[in-house]
Amino acid sequence: TLAIKGVPKELGYFTYDPGFTATASCSSAITFIDGGNGILRYRGYPIEQLAKQSSFIEVAYLLLNGELPNRAEFTEFRKDITYHTMVHEKLNNFMAGFHYDAHPMAMMSGVVGSLASFYHDRLDMRDPEQRMLAAKRLIAKMPTIAAACYRHHMGWPSSYPQNRLGYTERFLDMMFSVPAEDYQVSEVAARAMDLLFILHADHEQNASTSTVRLVGSTGANPYACVASGIAALWGPAHGGANEAVLTMLEQIGDVSQIGKYINKAKDKNDPFRLMGFGHRVYKNFDPRAAIIREAAHAVLDDLGVSDPLMDLARELEQIALKDDYFVERKLYPNVDFYSGIIYKALGIPTSMFTVMFAIARTTGWVAHWLEQSANPTPIGRPRQVYTGATERNYVGIDNR
Ligand code: ACO
Repeated sequence: TLAIKGVPKELGYFTYDPGFTATASCSSAITFIDGGNGILRYRGYPIEQLAKQSSFIEVAYLLLNGELPNRAEFTEFRKDITYHTMVHEKLNNFMAGFHYDAHPMAMMSGVVGSLASFYHDRLDMRDPEQRMLAAKRLIAKMPTIAAACYRHHMGWPSSYPQNRLGYTERFLDMMFSVPAEDYQVSEVAARAMDLLFILHADHEQNASTSTVRLVGSTGANPYACVASGIAALWGPAHGGANEAVLTMLEQIGDVSQIGKYINKAKDKNDPFRLMGFGHRVYKNFDPRAAIIREAAHAVLDDLGVSDPLMDLARELEQIALKDDYFVERKLYPNVDFYSGIIYKALGIPTSMFTVMFAIARTTGWVAHWLEQSANPTPIGRPRQVYTGATERNYVGIDNR
């Protein structure tokens, strides 16, 4: 805490907390985390129970509305989400402008931001029904846009949402169906994806959600708010970690090389970090990682996939967990350490991993945006500690 003198007569205290390690920016009733004890709950329900017994769409309802739906509410919500899965055909024109090898997260942030141009003049943010409509539209359209990004990269013709399918089945169908082949969505794959979406759905004030809230605090259009969340998620220290884990495992290549990479991660002169390890909040274990580790095995078995990267990941985890450097700093595998292995087994290319995260996290982003919009708070405006030059006089260019 610093005593800062701003304008004359304004002498007060404010905290200097780079990275917001100890500053709450809002109050929220959505997600509870106890990092020390590895507890994560959505609206009070333990993540372990939701992962085992719920579905992504039910979790989305829970996050948005605060309660689990009864059967009629669930059916209505699922119908609403299904109704909004199409995107305007003009978005395909927008997509066509991207270079074929554009990163899907770059496309996602652009395309989702552009939704603001389709839904702006009719949006009255004082109306809770219109806010909910924007939230549902975003949840519904994200998989459609994500699949379109993938197909653009592959050079495949556009696909359209098959609304007879469930949320994750529909997404897999949009990703992989090609006119020449009779693609059937695997039930195991859809269930695995649904689980990953549940685990990634919300995580209170992480970097991307805080970004959505900060942008939301200015009264910006919700589609623009979510586009800003996508940009924040893309970074390798956040959602980009699932892609970085796979790249790292491929780079390590063989169990015999693990020691070398552990040493690199410990070397303070080397920027390399063990991707998928460590978390700002979880200093014991990440409960999502425990669920995913188990699921990764089951999914690979069910799909009949044998991936040497899975063995490598397990061995790396075992070695790191016994290493003093990681033990002392409480660095444990996080949710992304194993999620990439499952996505890979489902046929999702590495560059799309963070997009998968974005689809799921959209639910959390819009839940927070709804919560914030219902209880308006002041515009987010962090302060700073100025460390630059004191006052000096301008010098003409010829005299410098
Ligand atoms: N490998 C090696 N050392 C690490 C790692 C790592 N993955 N993570 C943290 N450390 C070390 C730091 O160097 C630091 O050491 P020091 O005390 O000797 O200086 C100490 O552990 C504390 O690290 P911080 O960076 O201060 O921890 P912070 O809470 O700020 O960072 C973060 C958390 C960003 C997740 C970090 O652990 C990291 O970069 N991990 C790898 C990337 C990753 O997996 N991100 C996904 C996060 S989960 C998610 O977004 C879904």
